[in-house]
Amino acid sequence: MGFSSSSRRLCVPSVLLVCLSMILCRAQGGSSRKLYIVYLGDVKHDHPDHVVASHHDMLAGLLGSKEESVASVVYNYKHGFSGFAAMLTPEQAKQLAEFPDTPASELLHGTNYGEDCVQNNYGDDVIIGVVDTGIWPESRSFSDKGYGPIPSRWKGKCQVGPDWGINNCSRKIIGARFYSAGISDEILKTNSLSPRDNHGHGTHCASTAAGSAVEAASFHGLAKGVARGGAPRARIAVYKTLWETPRGPQGGIAGVLAAIDDAIYDGVDVLSLSLGVPGENSFGALHAVQKGITVVYTAGNNGPIPQTVGNTSPWVITVAATKVDRSFPTVITLGNKQQIVGQSLYYQAKNSSGSSFRDLILAELCTTDELNGTDVSGMILVCVPSRRDGSVLTPLITFPQASQYVRNGGGSGLIFAQYTNDLLSETAKLCNGIACVFVDPDTGERIRKYYFLDATSSTWSQHLGSCGRFLQVHVWDVYGSPHVSGIVALLKAQHPHWSPAAIKSAIITTAHITDERGMPILAEGLSRKTADPFDYGGGNINPGGAADPGLVYDIDPREYNKFFGCTIIRRTTVSCDETTLPAYHLNLPSIAVPELRRPITLWRTVTNVGKVDSVYHAQVQSLTGVRMEVEPIVLVFDAMNKVHTFKVKLSPMWKLQGDYTFGSITWRMEHKTVRIPVATRMTIHDFYADVA
Ligand SMILES: *[C@@H]1O[C@H](CO)[C@@H](O)[C@H](O)[C@H]1NC(C)=O
Ligand SMILES: *[C@@H]1O[C@H](CO)[C@@H](O)[C@H](O)[C@H]1NC(C)=O
Repeated sequence: MGFSSSSRRLCVPSVLLVCLSMILCRAQGGSSRKLYIVYLGDVKHDHPDHVVASHHDMLAGLLGSKEESVASVVYNYKHGFSGFAAMLTPEQAKQLAEFPDTPASELLHGTNYGEDCVQNNYGDDVIIGVVDTGIWPESRSFSDKGYGPIPSRWKGKCQVGPDWGINNCSRKIIGARFYSAGISDEILKTNSLSPRDNHGHGTHCASTAAGSAVEAASFHGLAKGVARGGAPRARIAVYKTLWETPRGPQGGIAGVLAAIDDAIYDGVDVLSLSLGVPGENSFGALHAVQKGITVVYTAGNNGPIPQTVGNTSPWVITVAATKVDRSFPTVITLGNKQQIVGQSLYYQAKNSSGSSFRDLILAELCTTDELNGTDVSGMILVCVPSRRDGSVLTPLITFPQASQYVRNGGGSGLIFAQYTNDLLSETAKLCNGIACVFVDPDTGERIRKYYFLDATSSTWSQHLGSCGRFLQVHVWDVYGSPHVSGIVALLKAQHPHWSPAAIKSAIITTAHITDERGMPILAEGLSRKTADPFDYGGGNINPGGAADPGLVYDIDPREYNKFFGCTIIRRTTVSCDETTLPAYHLNLPSIAVPELRRPITLWRTVTNVGKVDSVYHAQVQSLTGVRMEVEPIVLVFDAMNKVHTFKVKLSPMWKLQGDYTFGSITWRMEHKTVRIPVATRMTIHDFYADVA
């Protein structure tokens, strides 16, 4: 068998969380066989056919014949990395896993970095690969009017099928592929077996990243118009891996990996994945980054509770959604004339005149039991799913259920005292004909108190009125991952030689950590609070600043291998975890030290990509309880000195089992600021369960 030097890792395809729809999927096959992913690290042969042959050599040895091997393989990964997805019995998978391994640290070494580097002819012709539900080519956003020829380096293809003809590809949509293997026939029979989008999510993401639309005419480069238009001149390559089901789009990791592998071969510059891959299956993305492709992932729709950010591997850009207008005042007038300004996330009140009062009905936890039989006719239902002792429960009915209950019962409104961040697109439908207001739990608590305290003196005639802007419908400006993909494409067009790490650095160091009025960003959650770097990461993206960041924290993509090894956890998932070398030594545009027991020293290196003769001064915002020293505090750049390394020493001031504290290091020159966040936690013990 020809697999002597291969290292291999197995995983069963795991659950995919899809942006906006949050639908679960497990790719599965026949009776006892399941889809397994075998990851073999770098491609070790010159030609993709030879890579595939090596996979079959390996499998045929196990399964008995080449035919069986061919029949069991669902995807071969042969361009960006080597491996395959195959239908295997658990016993066969176990045998594969027992093949001799090379140490994990070798797994990703010797990457052919630079070999397939994309050519230096970007102009506006940056190619964004969108891995999603496909695309709807009839949308005006994808008109190819005025576009030049398809970039000659493009090697992708236009895969035809039902509802998708060869003419659906154009100078705008330059490639389209789909990945149906491993998806059940039941799902496939309700979908077009082609790149056609049966859901709409992929079309939305593609047009957000690179829709031509109206911006094309007024597009004058990065400084202007970028924030709204994504990259209107970029080309789109479609990789359909998610399939429409009654519960929303579903897909499998095997198909996503195949899409990434193909996209690396095809020659995309940016990969946009608005989907979540649990278990940090980001080795595909790592190979893409090592070929110079910037990979932009969504952080997922979970939250606002802590530790819900997904796709956090340091080689990708992880994008969380934000609302640019963080609050939208909705004045709620109670029957006692008290006015409460709620921070509504959405509301729509049809036929509700400015001062009409309605009876309130409070169903505290809003359980199904509580509501059963409750007459809400003409009333406004208030759901306050929080406990008096301060502990907070998840509402026992969901917002869609509550709104349906109100609509069915002839109610006139719903006040839902909990933030929810994945319903915005549906709310218009759910609240059709009724007034819907999301308020934060504090406001909900005040309404609850009013309900109980005032009820004794003023009977049950509590009211909710609306005034002022209550009737306006707010349009959200949400930065999502496709949006950032568009901005990355523009950065690539302007700076074709920047590495994915340099692009990520430019975005992070120039991000705004206050809103457009200079006010702190607030974190969504149960009780609103000023956001910390765990909430906003780098901050709110500032496209104009990112185009001219001054300094960048660059990383040779081979460096990632020193810090992360991709291994199997519990034989089920591939995970790229930290090696013994702490990740804070990686030259990231942030510093996070989770266990600060004694003083540590680390280094960062900055490269001047701005004015050749520049002098930057350090501005250190220290952390509570931790002394931070930066040395030197002045960096002088000129034609000979474009790169400088500085030292950061962090010393805990107390022996404490503490929480995280935050600070920052900002390099300043005139009005230019290059800021990175710093987070540390003082610890005494090695094993500390964070139960805060
Ligand atoms: C896409 O292809 C389908 C099927 O061939 C065709 O009906 C449709 O008009 C095409 N759309 C565009 C925008 O070319
Ligand atoms: C509502 O209550 C009635 C009477 O107690 C019961 O028969 C019915 O099953 C309940 N409905 C729901 C949806 O729980």
